[in-house]
Amino acid sequence: MTPRHGVSRTIRTQVAIVGAGPAGLTLACLLAGAGIESVVLENRSRAYVEERIRAGVLEQGTVEVLDAAGVGERLHREGIVHHGIYLQFAGERHRIPLSELADGRNIVIYGQTEVVKDLIQARLDAGLALRFEVDGVRVHEIETDRPRVTFAHQGERFELECDVIAGTDGFHGVCRPAIEEHLRVFSRDYPFAWLGILAAAPPSSDELVYAHHERGFALLSLRSLDRSRLYLQCAADERLDAWPDARIWDELQRRVALEGWTLVEGAVLEKGIAPMRSFVSEPMAHGRLFLAGDSAHIVPPTGAKGLNLAIADVSVLAEALVDWYRTGSDAGLAEYSATCLRRVWRAEQFSYWMTSMLHRPGDDPFEDQLQLSQLRYIVSSEAAARTLAENYVGLPLDHSRAQASVVRGA
Ligand code: FAD
Ligand code: DHB
Repeated sequence: MTPRHGVSRTIRTQVAIVGAGPAGLTLACLLAGAGIESVVLENRSRAYVEERIRAGVLEQGTVEVLDAAGVGERLHREGIVHHGIYLQFAGERHRIPLSELADGRNIVIYGQTEVVKDLIQARLDAGLALRFEVDGVRVHEIETDRPRVTFAHQGERFELECDVIAGTDGFHGVCRPAIEEHLRVFSRDYPFAWLGILAAAPPSSDELVYAHHERGFALLSLRSLDRSRLYLQCAADERLDAWPDARIWDELQRRVALEGWTLVEGAVLEKGIAPMRSFVSEPMAHGRLFLAGDSAHIVPPTGAKGLNLAIADVSVLAEALVDWYRTGSDAGLAEYSATCLRRVWRAEQFSYWMTSMLHRPGDDPFEDQLQLSQLRYIVSSEAAARTLAENYVGLPLDHSRAQASVVRGA
């Protein structure tokens, strides 16, 4: 094959995957299991990708997809199964029994860092293509049946010819901008952010605590039996250096305080500020480029949906690609965007709702009373609690495809 101008080597694969986050890596593993070849391109180093602390709550459906991708072994050994969460407000802590309310479904606490490590290890153990620290990734000719990706790696210029490109390169990637003119964008910014810490401290609560407080939202989570993950609502333009560890603990203590219960402190191992945003770009595909995960949509983190949505997208994409390669039918690929977007919008609404109900938007006593009324309703009405529970544990993966109505006569 003669390389094009400026390209020193041409390589070929079936699916080019841009971005080695949870979406890209899971897609690569699912495709490999079905005998479909792919090349994964990542612009960061392996260490960076493996250490980037983000989500920690996996829906049962996400665990099932990771099992199908062949990376469930350590997750089942080390992941911590939870059957409920707590909502705290007005000085009271109430348990929402998720599994009881949501058909026995549960959540698993297992860090995104661990999911990513498992996926990378599986890929490398199988000797399959995964290139870190690539530069200048560009997608080309996606409206033809011979799309290409160009990039540089270790001083050489490459051209990757493929059948399909998966744009799993996150919110700041290059794939979505490449089809920008074909997209409609919906977004919402919030006037606050999350300051998150990882602490060398055993979790103080047996289940996650989402706390509404007049000083702002706080969340107690965990990563393992000796690592707590804690979050505080802060200003959108907050500077990390304004938050020495002592101030963080002091603020957490105030916002989650409860009679007869203590928040255990420990050394702060990592801290960072995450912006809050809702964002959807539609459709999630153009020509032979398919967007999945954060490259197509963002949710604010309240409700822990970001990672789970990314995995749901690639499970739909993998199924559609397998069908296409096996039968020649492009029905699944044609429906990919619409199928994913039904689930995406459900998660957008849920995350927006949880965010609006739990965060202090400013000094607005009316809003405060509405939030408290909604929280009281959830902990006193089974119907309201069930709405929270079934969204939190995640609707079944095929829900978005099901057209059946549960409302009689509808
Ligand atoms: P990403 O994880 O962003 O992966 C995209 C990959 O593409 C990255 O490895 C990136 O380096 C790579 N890439 C980018 N550009 C290029 C390029 N040009 N070429 C090649 N590679 C490229 N969700 C929750 O549910 N709970 C949380 O607590 C939570 N906390 C978060 C905190 C932060 C700071 C952020 C940013 C997100 C958080 N999320 C959280 C969201 C969740 O982590 C994401 O939804 C999830 O990572 C999406 O996976 P992804 O694979 O789609 O994208
Ligand atoms: C975590 C993050 C979330 O966004 C959330 O809603 C619950 C837990 C976490 O990082 O553990």
